[in-house]
Amino acid sequence: MSTTPWWRDAVIYQVYPRSWADGDGDGVGDLPGITSRLEHLVSLGIDALWLSPFYTSPQNDAGYDVADYRDVDPLFGTLEDFDALVERAHALGLRVVVDVVPNHSSSEHPWFQAALAAGPGSPERARYVFREGRGTDGELPPNNWTSNFGGPAWSRLADGSWYLHLFDVTQPDFDWTNPEVRAELESVLRFWLDRGVDGFRIDVAHGLVKAEGLPDADLTLDPHRDPTGLLPMWDQPGVHEIYRDWRRLTDTYADDRMLCGEAWVGPPEALARYVRPDELHQTFNFSFLLTPWDAAALRASITTSLASAADVGAPQTWVLSNHDVVRHATRLGRADASRTVVTEGIGPDDEQPDAELGLRRARAATALMLALPGSAYLYQGEELGLPDATELPEDVLQDPTWERSGHARRGRDGCRVPVPWAPAGSSLGFGPKGDPWLPQPEAYARLSPASQDGVEGSTLELYRSLLRARRARSLGLGRLRWVEHQDPDVLWFVVSTDAGDTTVVTAVGASPVTLPADPAVVVSSEPLTGSTVPAGVTVWLDGAVAPI
Ligand code: NOJ
Repeated sequence: MSTTPWWRDAVIYQVYPRSWADGDGDGVGDLPGITSRLEHLVSLGIDALWLSPFYTSPQNDAGYDVADYRDVDPLFGTLEDFDALVERAHALGLRVVVDVVPNHSSSEHPWFQAALAAGPGSPERARYVFREGRGTDGELPPNNWTSNFGGPAWSRLADGSWYLHLFDVTQPDFDWTNPEVRAELESVLRFWLDRGVDGFRIDVAHGLVKAEGLPDADLTLDPHRDPTGLLPMWDQPGVHEIYRDWRRLTDTYADDRMLCGEAWVGPPEALARYVRPDELHQTFNFSFLLTPWDAAALRASITTSLASAADVGAPQTWVLSNHDVVRHATRLGRADASRTVVTEGIGPDDEQPDAELGLRRARAATALMLALPGSAYLYQGEELGLPDATELPEDVLQDPTWERSGHARRGRDGCRVPVPWAPAGSSLGFGPKGDPWLPQPEAYARLSPASQDGVEGSTLELYRSLLRARRARSLGLGRLRWVEHQDPDVLWFVVSTDAGDTTVVTAVGASPVTLPADPAVVVSSEPLTGSTVPAGVTVWLDGAVAPI
């Protein structure tokens, strides 16, 4: 029996519960809907699913504002529905990872309600970050921090005190210097571990600890790219102590329970500190996600990512899309892919993507990613080639970013549109009836699994082939060796495993790449023309193949 823990090379599929499958026809996805669709994941060939929050919540940030960490919001079902989902998933051989949101709660959480009622200086307030304001009457916020969604990170109560919220006003930050907070969140972990979950995705994992004294921040720094430790709210050294505690906790459970941190930490060596042997098992590799479609940049990102993880003895992870960013099938089809890749969103007045080019590159990018050593994350619908909804009317937008930025940033609704399961019907098979909570773009009708199942060359069949071959060749456990090619726009590498060698070639630029005659193609993101890899295509070849 293999002693390799499952997460080292796992492919983990993110289900965004409100948008994957609607069991009861209210237009919002739910847990019974998810359970009813798990066979789709089996036929896809993934190892685990990660569920974004389904906990009790006023849904001001789509569930990342948790009011009860130990219950299911009625919108999504019940705890029994959750148990049924886990049971079915496990019976099908799928692991289940859930989200934990430890940086902040909802303002409707009983702790915050108690803090409001108890007043300044109370132990109830000490669970959150309450401070006096600056200025003659405390009328100015305690420091210059801004919310990730726009506007100040502080709100003032009628009694004059201010509370910190790095996100929405309804998401007050916990004070992690308070042992009560630490104990509570550990108890939440145990609650779900005891219910059988296989791991956690940790929301805002780099934000829990703030610099002492809460000093002003240099707001010219970009927390997605610049060294975040320089910013007093991100990547502070004390955060690692929390994850050591959490690791000790998960290690007391059998079956390799896993912790994956969502840490938007710039320098790779800083990110790697989160996956030292006694801390988390994984972090998301957002620098890979942010890398433009450029051969030199991709090669540098892959090389640095592998080296920094290896330095601490951890496997690397890879991701191209999630519920916070413009889908890769859309952003890779735009000339300007830089500004929009994170949370800005694309609207009808912005540059529209070239859908065909975007999908072609997205398929090549995924084929590249799934050959890389380590673990990979997929976002629901990317296996169907779904684009972002880039023409959503303003009156349907729900991301708090839209309001808090004074309508300057559209936010993330475009990647959160309900998934189509059928080519027709009011919500394209998302639910049994009713309109979906966000309108689906016209293009979704031809992209449902029903339209792609068994269709040669479809994106769904491509993903299935890639995942099958990745598993058969144990690519996630491989070693990568770059091979030089005369064309700088070509990526060429060999992945070696106990199962043999696989050569991966991506024609990133505008020119095709000629392979040696009669190439032994394992899988290709588009058909080859003879022995030529067309521009914008990735191919996997059997064996260690040298360029001609
Ligand atoms: C990261 C989550 O992915 C995002 O959706 C959420 O808005 C913020 N954290 C705040 O919880």
